Amino acid sequence: MNDNAQARDGSSAIILTDVTKSFVIESQRVDALRGVNLRIDRGSCVSITGRSGAGKSTLLHIIGTLDRPSAGNVSIAGIEVSRMSDQATSKFRNRKLGFIFQSSNLLPEFSALENVMMPGVIAGMKGPVARARAGALLDSVGLGARVSHRPAELSGGEQQRVAIARALFMEPEVLLADEPTGNLDKNTSLAIQDLLLELAVVHKTTMILVTHDPLLAGRMPSRVIMEDGRVLSATGVSL
Ligand SMILES: Nc1ncnc2c1ncn2[C@@H]1O[C@H](COP(=O)(O)OP(=O)(O)OP(=O)(O)O)[C@@H](O)[C@H]1O
Ligand SMILES: [Mg+2]
Repeated sequence: MNDNAQARDGSSAIILTDVTKSFVIESQRVDALRGVNLRIDRGSCVSITGRSGAGKSTLLHIIGTLDRPSAGNVSIAGIEVSRMSDQATSKFRNRKLGFIFQSSNLLPEFSALENVMMPGVIAGMKGPVARARAGALLDSVGLGARVSHRPAELSGGEQQRVAIARALFMEPEVLLADEPTGNLDKNTSLAIQDLLLELAVVHKTTMILVTHDPLLAGRMPSRVIMEDGRVLSATGVSL
């Protein structure tokens, strides 16, 4: 590897090389990803758009180590995640990645505070430390007065803000969001978008965000458009 390539690698959060993913259901094969190459720099905020079925969520799941590619390599922060054991992958996911989905996926039996501190509990963090950090994060997303509420006692926008606080709890290197504002009204959606973009900058987080909303995609400095399991175009991202 020459010096330039090494310098580029140092600033790359995520490198995808010839990533394919096929699913076989009842002998029917779906090629969800057909050779994706992407290099996403550390700290960049990237939108992924494209028609339904283009492979956006599949790609996000593979980057997020929730699924493995059929072929190809995925490297995050210099680590080849596609080759790690399941146990190492779980630990990596807990420490380095944060997820936000369309529905907040909060644990219904737990309070907002407990939901936010959960990744810390899983990582073995001491209770009081985790509580203090979760409280500060809930404050930062404007929910300081809702720490004891359970998800069912929060509005959709508030639940999504709890999910954002939870995703940021471990100070992830990479934040992955799949239609994070898809279930929200326009004003709440805009407020959540502002919050996500602001937090990504403050925490220097690489953010990859799948959306059908052209306004949201337009607010992201880098943009990837997918079609039929391939990258159709990429702005601010190398192929
Ligand atoms: N677990 C799975 N098993 C079988 N096929 C799957 C699975 N997950 C996705 N697919 C197929 O792979 C293709 C890509 O799906 P994917 O969910 O990535 O699309 P998407 O771009 O996120 O679409 P949408 O905008 O509707 O969310 C689709 O044709 C889908 O049916
Ligand atoms: Mg999807």
